[in-house]
Amino acid sequence: MDKISVIGAGSVGSSLAWLILINKLSKRISLIDIDEDWAKGIACDLNDSRFILKSDTFIEGSSDYSAVKDSDIIVVTAGSPRKPGMRRQDLLKINAGIISSVSKEIKKHSPGSIVILVTNPLDLMVYVALENTGFSSKRVFGMGSSLDSSRLANFISQETGVSVKDITPLVMGMHSKDMLVSKQSKIGVFSIEEFIPAEGFLALKEKTCNRGKEIVDYLKKGSARFGPAAAVVEIIEAIDKDSQKIIPVSCLLENEFSLGKFCTGMPCVIGKNGIEKVLQPHLLPEEKKLLSESARSFQESLKCLTD
Ligand code: APR
Repeated sequence: MDKISVIGAGSVGSSLAWLILINKLSKRISLIDIDEDWAKGIACDLNDSRFILKSDTFIEGSSDYSAVKDSDIIVVTAGSPRKPGMRRQDLLKINAGIISSVSKEIKKHSPGSIVILVTNPLDLMVYVALENTGFSSKRVFGMGSSLDSSRLANFISQETGVSVKDITPLVMGMHSKDMLVSKQSKIGVFSIEEFIPAEGFLALKEKTCNRGKEIVDYLKKGSARFGPAAAVVEIIEAIDKDSQKIIPVSCLLENEFSLGKFCTGMPCVIGKNGIEKVLQPHLLPEEKKLLSESARSFQESLKCLTD
């Protein structure tokens, strides 16, 4: 790949740039942050590792959006963290404002790029980016459910002793504590029940839904960075290699489940064009209920944005 831009050089953005450099996924990385000195400092530090890591990936730090020109992929991690006492809808409005202005810059400087959103609340931010870039929904989507799936796979592996490589986790829906952790997840060709009793799986489900908060509680300041960065790299590699890999991402559903138009996590086939196909897994009755709850909550938040 010739150029990947990362908007937001904070914890996730800098960890992501580091992984791209280590894995030599792109010749250049433009690292953009509202705090120009911060972006430049992170870029200098990363570039100093190029010789040791034998990587020709070069990183440019800037606050000038013209630096994202002609990117193959743009990853957006820019956002404001939730501060103590801040209401959920206040954060929603602040980050929607940031994503809306970032999207306009992307449209202006790199109209052919694929855009991967990371900023929370993710599903809403994907919608805001779609509206403000006007790009096809194949090219604008969010990293969320693949991280949740990776978290579930980690817990299943720890519980059963089976390698993470043999676990096929299935997590969909909202990228929040109300995500849809499916008991249709598999261990090799076996159903979960063959390894873990129902109440055991419920406990793992609970741990998966609360993992983001668990990390925040431990860290005191900041939130998850390595897991999110790794999950974005998985998507970048699938695009780069046109691998047609199934990865759950936050995508626009037009009316696939008769729930109207909204963004949520669904397994998608990812290739060189971004989302090659949105898959529609068979949902159990309780899963249908949860997905319809996701649609309702999405519409409610959208209304709060326009009020
Ligand atoms: N343009 C560019 N950069 C911005 C803007 C903007 N308008 N607003 C904020 N930023 C930058 C900040 O200066 C900061 O460096 O975005 C960066 C965000 O980094 P962190 O605060 O460290 O947040 P991080 O932990 O990386 O998480 C980023 O990903 O997982 C989600 O919930 C998380 O929404 C959050 C996002």
